[in-house]
Amino acid sequence: MKYSIIPAAGLATRFLPASKCIPKELFPVLDKPVIQYIVEESIEAGATNVVFVSGSGKEAILDHFDKINPKFSAKNLKEDVREKVETLDDMIEVISVRQKSPQGLGHAVMKGTFVVPKEESFAVMLPDMLIFSEGESTVMQEMSRISEKYCCSVIALMEVPAESRGMYGIAEGTKVENGVIDIKKLIEKPSAGETESNLAILGRYIFTPRIAEILRTVKPGRGGEIQLTDAMVSLLAEERILGYVIDSQTRVFDTGNMEGFALANAYAALCRVPDFDRKIANLIKK
Ligand code: G1P
Repeated sequence: MKYSIIPAAGLATRFLPASKCIPKELFPVLDKPVIQYIVEESIEAGATNVVFVSGSGKEAILDHFDKINPKFSAKNLKEDVREKVETLDDMIEVISVRQKSPQGLGHAVMKGTFVVPKEESFAVMLPDMLIFSEGESTVMQEMSRISEKYCCSVIALMEVPAESRGMYGIAEGTKVENGVIDIKKLIEKPSAGETESNLAILGRYIFTPRIAEILRTVKPGRGGEIQLTDAMVSLLAEERILGYVIDSQTRVFDTGNMEGFALANAYAALCRVPDFDRKIANLIKK
């Protein structure tokens, strides 16, 4: 898997005024833009050709992955800072695809597939969903391993409370091995009573090339938009799709909403800022 598609065309109305001029994908979690975490995850899984699907006002995302402006290097950067800003741009091939108008996630991914070689499997990574893995491998690395072992598409799943089902695509399936299920049914944002499953699609996918053909024919679904989940339902009728259920050591933050974004920053600070836990506890006490 050498390609990943990152849909990044959303407007982030929820984050106004911050999102007025700055693409939400560049909002920092501590000192790193959200989208850089996603790109690093892609590289770690071997997908170094990164396809950004975006629209007007999002050009800064592409600039971010250019060589750093020499004005920074002219100063005496500390070695660790230099490493942080200089290495990434050499590791990826940035490919930009335009989504002229918002027509849904499936439409964005379909646009992205135009630049992926026809016979290749590829990843789709939703940049809102930030994943911190504490184990030895990342979620995408595990998915890539499973996809190679079983030669099929794999999507990442996480357990959510029953009352949150309506916010996600939900998968039903049967166990194949620890943490892996054979998906039998997929429902995009189910209404109450439509499913008993608590396994939600969390925004990481590895697809066989067939999905690209299906996406070109899929009709608008929920909300009048072309849904990726609808294309996956068609794929499921033809091919196996496995679900990789993330373990309890993996933390997922939906940075597309205020709470998730704040928590992601707090979590990163707890991991990296000395004494942060004590300081935040003091702040809460006050
Ligand atoms: C999309 C997908 C949904 C998935 C979710 C994860 O929904 O359509 O299946 O569960 O991402 O964040 P969105 O968040 O774009 O509404």
